[in-house]
Amino acid sequence: MFLGLRCESGVAGNPRNRRRFARPFILQMLILALALVTTGAIPPFAVAQKVQLSVDVSKTGAKIERNIFGQFAEHLGHGVYEGVWVGPDSSIRNTRGIRNDVVAALKAISVPNIRWPGGCFADEYHWRNAIGAPRVVTLNPNWGGVIEPNTFGTHEFMDFLDQIGAEAYISVNVGSGTPREAAEWLEYLTTGQPTTLAKERASNGHSDPYRVAFMGIGNESWDCGGNMTPDYYLSQLKIYSRFVRNFNPAQQSKQQMLKIAVGPGGGEPRWTEWTEAIMKAYQHHTWSWDINGLSMHNYTVGQWPPSFASVGFGETEYSQFLKYTLAMEDLITKHSAIMDKYDPERKVALVVDEWGAWYAPLPGSNPGFLVQQNSLRDAILAALNLNTFARHADRVRMANIAQMINVLQAMIMTDKEKMVLTPTYYVFKMYVPFQDATFVPVTFDAGTYTHADISLPRVDAIAAKDTAGKLWLAVTNLVPNQPIEVEASLTGITAKSAAGVTLTAPKVDSVNTFDAPKTVVPKPISAKVQGGKLALTLEPKSVTVISVEQ
Ligand code: AHR
Repeated sequence: MFLGLRCESGVAGNPRNRRRFARPFILQMLILALALVTTGAIPPFAVAQKVQLSVDVSKTGAKIERNIFGQFAEHLGHGVYEGVWVGPDSSIRNTRGIRNDVVAALKAISVPNIRWPGGCFADEYHWRNAIGAPRVVTLNPNWGGVIEPNTFGTHEFMDFLDQIGAEAYISVNVGSGTPREAAEWLEYLTTGQPTTLAKERASNGHSDPYRVAFMGIGNESWDCGGNMTPDYYLSQLKIYSRFVRNFNPAQQSKQQMLKIAVGPGGGEPRWTEWTEAIMKAYQHHTWSWDINGLSMHNYTVGQWPPSFASVGFGETEYSQFLKYTLAMEDLITKHSAIMDKYDPERKVALVVDEWGAWYAPLPGSNPGFLVQQNSLRDAILAALNLNTFARHADRVRMANIAQMINVLQAMIMTDKEKMVLTPTYYVFKMYVPFQDATFVPVTFDAGTYTHADISLPRVDAIAAKDTAGKLWLAVTNLVPNQPIEVEASLTGITAKSAAGVTLTAPKVDSVNTFDAPKTVVPKPISAKVQGGKLALTLEPKSVTVISVEQ
């Protein structure tokens, strides 16, 4: 169809020729095009309909907090042990037991914060088991029932953060712990006064107080965190919020620790009720308790238990999963609307601290370790979610993809001394300029890509101005078999040139492996700027980030 249209606006588009040549010529060309396509001589996607974007730089929105690019590292499978921690005696290059290759890779994506130690694990975690020597060896009943050696504990986590330059997001144990245990952990971490706990911290190697930027009060308290009702959780939340204090002198009047309450876990009515209950209580909160964030968990899973394959799939599963992931938009809109009712000034952030694709465990892996592959589809899925968060930047001020290494939609996969960066890692790398940038609205008619009974927008796009004032665009082509020409009209700046990088691969399920680590890696892409318009061609199934020079 598009081939026919192009012919018409080319030769037969001239009004003088039109009458003479139009019908036979178009007919001939259609027959020719059909023949070429059906014989496979040219792919059916040769010409795409252009997508017009309008970017008005004078109309800026909220700041895209860098914390939406946060990570999550749970004591689960090889997420921490082997992924981060190999121990100081390992033959794998490390600094005080922490892998050097992983640290370098994470530094390159400017990880803003890491949520730790869980997840479900957090509500069974007892911090004292993992400080000093000897460490208490326990079990990890949530995740495969394996031994938890506790060799990676508070000091090792803080050292890891220090090595990569990220903030701590500590999840305290509400399910099986006590307010006293959590309060003592925070005192141990943060006090600058010579208390017994501070002296113990110093004797364990750190005399200065640690900075704890975020504290999660429980995890999924409606489920693995203790199956609590909203009212029961609220009573716990108030106690933890009151008594678990951050004493770091540098975090008193400025840069105070933000407290994050457990929030919804999906679209069902029970979670609407949960958000209602917490936010209603927040509206009437007194001086003695407070929250700064409400957590939301939302995985792209298709069905529970997760049974879709992470590799070895085709266009149907590709488009299905992208469709599922786009539900994040409605979920955020729905819960933001409830929050707006009780917190119209948007003081409480919606913190999407577990998100990402969750597939069936890789055959042969321990099902409790949540090992899956990470393909080009995941890169596109990540970009779509990051775009959604950016569009809701006034409410979504933090997010944590699940999980950082070797677990679920990981940035990095390791196998002993080997390390490979996933397609999702490269999206996070390409999006670094969006960290703390100011949202710039983009309007466009994406059109529709249809496969079987699934319809998706053909493209998605966001724009932002970075802290130096430079304009950035991120444009994703969801269509797996058709390049798309994009023309962006740029108002409010005098654009001179543009350049960027694009991420794609031969197949929707292309992956990077230890043996072939460069199958899905970004490559440079050029864009033309003329008369206030930027033009570029997006490859099929690709994520592109462009910067505009003025
Ligand atoms: O990320 C894996 C698990 O998913 C987390 O531990 C839990 O919070 C969620 O259900």
